Amino acid sequence: MKAIGIIGSPRMNGNTATLVRQTLESASEAGADTEVYYLNELEFKGCQGCGYCKIHTKCKLQDDLSKVLDSLVKADAIVFGSPIYFSQFTGQMRLFLDRCYSLINPDFSPRVTPGKKAVLVGSHGAPDPNIYKAVYDEFSGNIKNFMGIETVDTIIAAGYTEPGSVKNNTELITRAKTAGLKLTE
Ligand SMILES: Cc1cc2nc3c(=O)[nH]c(=O)nc-3n(C[C@H](O)[C@H](O)[C@H](O)COP(=O)(O)O)c2cc1C
Repeated sequence: MKAIGIIGSPRMNGNTATLVRQTLESASEAGADTEVYYLNELEFKGCQGCGYCKIHTKCKLQDDLSKVLDSLVKADAIVFGSPIYFSQFTGQMRLFLDRCYSLINPDFSPRVTPGKKAVLVGSHGAPDPNIYKAVYDEFSGNIKNFMGIETVDTIIAAGYTEPGSVKNNTELITRAKTAGLKLTE
C-alpha cells in the first residue's frame, strides 16, 4: 500500500507540512510505504494547454513534477496539503493541479485507476475553521470528478501563522493520526 503527501506550502516545517507528515507517519505505522513531495522545492512549470496529453498518455513537459505525477498514478492514497493564501490554496498547489490535466482523458473522465483515497490538510490564519470550506469542497470535488479520488477526511489548522505551531495542538495531531489510519483501511 503506497501513500504519498503533496505539500503546497513553501514552509517545509510549517503547519501544513507538520500535519501531512503526521498523517503519513500514522499510515506508515499501519504498514503503508510513504513518500512526501514539497512542491516548492521542485522545478516545474504550469500546464501549457498544448493538448499533447490528449493525443498521448503523458504530459509533454518532463520536469521535476513528472515523478510526482507518476507517483500519484501508482499511489493508493494521497495527502494533499496547502495553506490558504488570499482565500485559495497556494499557487504551488494550483500549478500542480493544472498539471493533473495529463491524468484525465479527452472526455474529462479519469485516466488513473479510480478508488484512491485522499486526506486534505489545510492551514490558515483566520480563526474560523469553516471560513474556507468552499476551497476544500472545490478541491475535493475536482479530484473526485476528474480523477475518481475520494476524500475521506479534511483536517484544518485554523488560527495558525507561526510555522509548525500546530504541533502543540493535540486534538489536530490525533485527528491526523486517525486520518492516516483511515487511508490504510
Ligand atoms: C501570501 C499569504 C497570504 C495569506 N492569506 C491568508 C488568507 O487569505 N487567509 C488566512 O486566514 N490566512 C492567510 N495567510 C496565513 C497563512 O494561511 C497561515 O500562516 C498558514 O498557517 C500558513 O501555513 P504553513 O505554516 O503550512 O505554511 C496568508 C499567508 C501568506 C504568506
